[in-house]
This record gives sequence, structure tokens and C-alpha cells, in this order.
Amino acid sequence: MDKLIIKGGGPIKGEIKISGSKNSGLPILAATLLARDPMHICNLPHLNDITTMLALLRCMGVGITIDEKMCVEIDPTLLTECEAPYELVKTMRASILVLGPMLARFGVADVSFPGGCAIGSRPVDIHLKGLEAMGATIEIDGGYIRARAPQGLKGAHFVMEKVTVGGTENLLMAACLAEGTTVLENAAREPEIVDLAECLIAMGAKIKGVGSDRLEIEGVKDLHGCVYSVMPDRIETGTYLVAAAATRGSIKLRRTRADILTSVLKKLEEAGAKITSGDDWIELDMEGRRPRGVNIRTAPYPAFPTDMQSQFTAMNAVAEGASAVTETIFENRLIQIHELNRMGATIGLEGNTALINGVERLKGAPVMASDLRASASLVIAALVADGETIVDRIYHIDRGYECIEEKLQLLGVDIRRVPG
Ligand code: EPZ
Repeated sequence: MDKLIIKGGGPIKGEIKISGSKNSGLPILAATLLARDPMHICNLPHLNDITTMLALLRCMGVGITIDEKMCVEIDPTLLTECEAPYELVKTMRASILVLGPMLARFGVADVSFPGGCAIGSRPVDIHLKGLEAMGATIEIDGGYIRARAPQGLKGAHFVMEKVTVGGTENLLMAACLAEGTTVLENAAREPEIVDLAECLIAMGAKIKGVGSDRLEIEGVKDLHGCVYSVMPDRIETGTYLVAAAATRGSIKLRRTRADILTSVLKKLEEAGAKITSGDDWIELDMEGRRPRGVNIRTAPYPAFPTDMQSQFTAMNAVAEGASAVTETIFENRLIQIHELNRMGATIGLEGNTALINGVERLKGAPVMASDLRASASLVIAALVADGETIVDRIYHIDRGYECIEEKLQLLGVDIRRVPG
């Protein structure tokens, strides 16, 4: 397995471009199954999760043509299989996002039941209950979700018992081709869902309440293709901002937006960062100051995002003063504190809250990534550690951070990838 070797140093400084959003690209690629003709999706990041989703569509017979800028032409009219196989779903649980569109378009969908992962059990019960409310019959057989709707889906009024990003995405996509009107209450409001809704509307869908927790979808007969460019990745944006803050540095991020991570920017200002932004850029400057520890409590958008929690835990580990980080979305997403403590951090755990006393510097050590965002926190920790840190199992990082070593080298970091 590849490793990253990082030599801790001083403040990072420089300018980089942000890639397209993984968590918007994945549902939008799934949504292409709804179209009656080819689509072009642009600004997709070069990430393992994106190539896995493309492999999944390809194994169903969908035509895929990729140009050098990762602009992808998808031809769903060539689809031959309505099955998402175990071999692919086990590597990326977001494969579940093909369930809703496949069922809505073809009346049949067999999707391998996605397992849990390092951060939690990740059930999909709300996805399935919503599709049943729309008239689907769902069976679990041999580890597969076997969904059928031979007469098509019917509009329904469905209240989601928990705020679920994937559940909202699956049901939103399915509702676009259901007969009649669907209302989704307690819907997730993440910017990636807004991006998906805007793509669906460009395909001819009729959706009201975009960005709110109540979505009203009037089903249509069919959806046409379109050309759509995926939004910037707000979590990659936040990750590099936190890296600059933790190292007392300064950074300018281009091809991104400030309006999609307001809660993160507010926390960085609370930590002492000076932040300015424009239509498609954000700049952060610590003016050489050590960050102050900030208290974090994760919750659904627009509150503080769980996908930024471990990065702030790493920053708090070297910040001034004490801080508390509470994870409310996933049951096992504070796992990175053990590796941070091995680097000299002083972090205690009480239930779902990490209690952190900031130290001046960490010490380089061999560490192991456990999931995508935890691995990002280890990279941030390595930047503010004396000596060398070896981050193992970095396939986790490659799922969500495009060209991470090139981007960090542009920021002055001594980092190299060693094939494992
Ligand atoms: C999406 O995962 C993101 N993944 C995650 O990002 C992100 O952490 C998460 O939303 C929360 O924002 C993608 O978009 C591909 P959920 P998802 O359904 O949809 C419970 C990353 O690092 N739940 O909103 O799987 C669930 O257990 C990844 O990029 C049910 O109980 O998350 C969790 O506690 C990690 N039943 C909570 O809801 C269900 O049917 C939120 O999960 C569905 C979810």
C-alpha cells in the first residue's frame, strides 16, 4: 500500500486550485441513469470514488467516454444490466445512489447491500422505506437489495425520520420520474443536494424547495440529457484552509466558493484567521499567529459539517488553549484521536466528545489512516510535527483528495509518495 512521507515544517503558503466536488459528482453521475439520451458531466475530480462510480455504470452497459479534462460523456441508452455488483459496491458504499434512478427509470434494480465502514454502520433503511412509500417492493436476498416497481413509482408524501444526505438524493432522483407529486420532508440541505437538484432541473425535472428541508417534486414522463459542471469541493476547500490555519500560514484557493462552507469559515475566524473571498476564491491568512482552539459540534447543513470535524481536531491539537469536539452524525468518527495522541497530542475522549489541550508542536511518527477524513487530519498533523511522519494506507486519501501531494508541494510542503 502506498505511503505518504511528510517532513514537518513551517507555515504553508501559496495558491492552489480546488477540484470538483466528489460528493456532488457521485449522485450526479448516478442521475444520468434517469436520462433518455446522452449527458456530459464536467469538472469531475480525478478520484478513486469517481472512477469506481464510472466503473459501476460501465459494468451496467452504460456508454462512458472520458476526455483529458475528466469531462465525461455518459450514454445511458446503452444500459443492459440493472445490477450494481458486490465487487464494486463493497469498495464504495455511495454505489447505493444508483438504486433510486435505476428503479425509477427501468422498474427494476438489484444493488448489493452496502456494508458499514470505519466511521459507522451507515444503514440505508430510510432510502428503502422511501422507495416503498413510492410503491416499490423491496426484498433483501443474498446480500442484495432487490427493488421492483413494474408499474413505475407513484408520488408519495414521505417524512424522513433522520436527516440523510444519500437518502434525500436517492428519493429525490426517484421522485423525478414517479407518477404524480412527491413531498420529501426533513430533507437534507447540503450544497451537494442543491447541485444535484439543479442538474435534474436542467434535465427537465420539476422540483420546488431546492435548498430547503421540504422538497416537492412533480414527476415527469422522461428526462433529457444536458451538459452540467459539478460544483467545487467544499470539503477539500475546508481541508486546505485548516492546514494553513494549523501551520500559522496563508493560502489562496481558486475555483471555489465561500457561500457553501459558511459555518467552517466562521470557526476559522474564531480561531484567529483573517479570511477574505470573492466569487470564485477564498484567502486565509493567520499573520503568523498560532490558532486558538475552537469548540466544534457537528450537525446537518447549514451547521458544522461532520466531514470537517477531524481536520479541526488536528488543528485544535496544536492550537492555544483547550477545546471540545463533539461528533453527532457518525458513531465512530473520532477514531483519529488515537493516532494524533501517538504524535504527542493530548486528547481525551468522553462519549462522542474529544477533549483537547493544545500543544505547541507534535512529533513525527508512523501513523495509519482509517478513513478518508481521518487521513486528512493525519496529514495536517504531520505538517505541524517535528521530523518525519509516514502515513500508511493512503488509498483512503486517494478517494477524496485529488493530487494531494502535488497540491501540498505547491504550498511548500516536503511530501512524497512511496509506493507500498
Ligand atoms: C454523505 O454520506 C457523504 N457521502 C458523507 O461524506 C457525509 O459524511 C455524510 O453524507 C453526512 O454529511 C457522500 O455524499 C458520498 P447520511 P451518507 O445518510 O449519505 C444515518 C466523505 O467523507 N442514516 O447523511 O451516507 C446514518 O447512519 C463522506 O466524503 C440512517 O440511519 O450520510 C448517519 O448517522 C463520509 N438511515 C446519518 O444518518 C439511512 O437510511 C447521516 O448519514 C441513512 C442514513
